[in-house]
Order: sequence, then C-alpha cells, then structure tokens
Amino acid sequence: NDALRIALLGCGTVGTAVARRLVDHADEFASRVERPVEITGVAVRDTSKPRPESGLDPSVFTTDAEALVRDADVVVELMGGIEPARSLLLTAMEHGASVVTANKALLGEDGPRLYETAAEHGVDLYYEASVAGAIPLLRPLQVSLAGDSVERIMGIVNGTTNFILDKMDRTGEALDDVLAEAQELGYAEADPTADVEGYDARAKAAILASLAFHTRVAALDVSCEGIMSITADDIRAARKMGCVVKLLAICERVRNGRGDQSLSVRVHPTLVPRSHPLASVHDAFNAVFIESALAGEVMFYGQGAGGDPTASAVLGDLVQAARHKVTGSRGPGESAYADLPILPLSQA
Ligand code: NDP
Ligand code: HSE
Repeated sequence: NDALRIALLGCGTVGTAVARRLVDHADEFASRVERPVEITGVAVRDTSKPRPESGLDPSVFTTDAEALVRDADVVVELMGGIEPARSLLLTAMEHGASVVTANKALLGEDGPRLYETAAEHGVDLYYEASVAGAIPLLRPLQVSLAGDSVERIMGIVNGTTNFILDKMDRTGEALDDVLAEAQELGYAEADPTADVEGYDARAKAAILASLAFHTRVAALDVSCEGIMSITADDIRAARKMGCVVKLLAICERVRNGRGDQSLSVRVHPTLVPRSHPLASVHDAFNAVFIESALAGEVMFYGQGAGGDPTASAVLGDLVQAARHKVTGSRGPGESAYADLPILPLSQA
C-alpha cells in the first residue's frame, strides 16, 4: 500500500468537514497529490461519540494521538488548545511528518518553536486556516508580497465577534443573546472567551505581524481589548453617529522623526463610518486590508469561520504538504498539466 498516510487530530467542527471532503473526493485528492491519500486514524477525546457526518469508518477513531503522529506522512491538527497539541506536533515533526494546523492560539504562543522544529527535521509547517478561515491570506502575504514592504494591516479577523456586533447592530439584541447563536453555528472557539475577549484576534494579529514584517511577534505582545463591555446602547450611539462598531486587528510600521522603526500591533473595538468597506462586512465574514509600499492597498474578503470554509484552507495546505512529500515540489503540479482530462467548454 503506497498511500500517503494522513493522521487527523480532532474531529469537531473543522475536522469533520475536512474528513468528509477527503472521503467524498478521494479520487480528486489522489490526482492532485499524485498518490492516494489514506486517513490512518483520527484522534478524539470520546471514541464512543457517533460521527456519521464525517463519513469515516468508526474503527479509525482513537484516543492514542501519540501513536498516530509517530506513523504519519502528514499530521493535520484540528483539536485546538496549547497542550497536548504542541507536544503532538513536535513529536510528529521529529518523526518526519509535515504538519498542517488551524491552531492560531498555539502559533501565537509558540510559533517560532514549531518553525525551528520543522526546519530542523526538513518538514513542512502550514497554517493558512489559522487566520481568516477560508481567505487565502497568509500565502499571499508570505509569497506574493515578499518583494514589497508592508506598512499596515487592518482587518476584521474574528468571525464570532463580527457576527455578534453585526447582529446587535441589525436587531438591537444584547451581546449574550447573540453569542449563543454564534456558538451553535460553529464559529466560536471551544471556550468563546477567546473570541469575545479578543484573544483569538490577538493571536491572529501576532501571526499576521510576524509574517508581514518578517519579525517575531507573540500574542502576549499584542495589546488587546475585547467586546464584552459593548452594550446595545453603545451600538445605538454608534448608529446615531453614522458608524458601526467593529473589532479590528491593526498592525503597523511606525517611524519616528529620526527614521527609527517600530511596530504597533493591537486589537480593539473601533468606530467605523458606515461608508467604509469594513462596515459592510456582515455575519462571520472577515476582511483584511494590507497597505504596502509598491502594491498600495490590497483587500481580502471571505468567510472567516465555520467548518466548510476553514476546511477549504486546511485542505489546500494538506495538498501542498502532501504533494511536496510525494513529488518533492512545492509548485502547483504543472508536471501533471498535460495529462489532465479536458472538460468540454459550454457553448452557452
Ligand atoms: P471543536 O471543539 O469543534 O473540535 C475539537 C476536536 O478535537 C474534537 O473532535 C475533540 O474531540 C478533539 N480534541 C480536543 N482535545 C483533544 C485531546 N486532548 N485529545 C484528543 N482529541 C481532542 O473545534 P473546532 O473544529 O472548531 O476547531 C479546531 C481548531 O481549528 C482550533 O484550533 C480552532 O481554533 C481552529 N479553527 C476553528 C475555526 C472554526 O470556525 N471552528 C476556524 C479556524 C480555525 P471530541 O469530539 O471527542 O470532543
Ligand atoms: N472562533 C474563530 C472566529 C474561528 O470566530 O473567527 C475562526 O478562526
């Protein structure tokens, strides 16, 4: 059996969507990776929970994540939290597996250690899904803008708080009433404190600032204020001023009179005029503006949370990591281009 071995850690909102797609589109993945992919096991806390939506055979579920990561080509971590996720990913890389994760909390806390371990063992570490869900954002920042100089990033990077603030604006409801709905829709973290206190956005701001400014910013370095104190009255007052309240992550290069540079990275609720494009970002959508020396303003927009949108980014990383394992190339697979089937063009 020469299938590429994928170990999945977690089968919750995102893990279920990832598994389902891998099961239902196995042939597509085999073609894009140039080898069949096999889910060798899925680590969960409770193996007795029925998980029919995943499309997986019940026999693949295990509580022995440690054994799973020692025998995989690619480990996809979707369990969340710092431990045991960190130890498992370090073990996975030490045993030669590439890693895909959506765990911004872990990256915001200990990203450099993960990077160093990946480099030491010559494996890949990808985390596109960790910031802004489905939106292709980290790769453009790391690759497409690598020759430019980013000056400022300003964005809505937490879907739960955007959903809450948007719904409060549209219905006049109180924060607590709307939070439960965001949890039911699968947008919130396992502990939604991380969303409403701004910690999730803070971790994402740290990741964005590190990549954009080619430096190390840890989540705890980011000043942070969440939305817990925002009341229905505040939202009404903002409305009267022609504004909406948005939780923004702002990362900017600051220059003093002598030309010395420093960074300002912060997360806080902000009054945004209704005419501004960020005011039109509704529900759990995210939007990120990047200003750079050469490109000027670039804007990214899309679904920032939820199972399927996040799975899109996770699976893109998985194809990239798997292809690299199989072909040794990080490119999009041009070698297979000539052999691709031809879809008839519509005459409509
Ligand atoms: P869930 O809480 O829905 O799922 C977590 C899964 O991990 C569950 O299957 C759980 O098992 C398993 N798990 C948790 N801890 C352990 C452990 N110690 N050992 C074994 N299994 C464990 O989380 P999400 O799917 O929402 O999120 C997963 C990751 O993706 C997180 O890092 C999150 O921040 C990130 N993310 C989430 C997004 C979203 O919209 N939900 C968007 C972008 C990123 P069991 O089912 O048995 O409880
Ligand atoms: N809880 C996060 C959010 C999930 O609401 O944005 C996506 O990272």
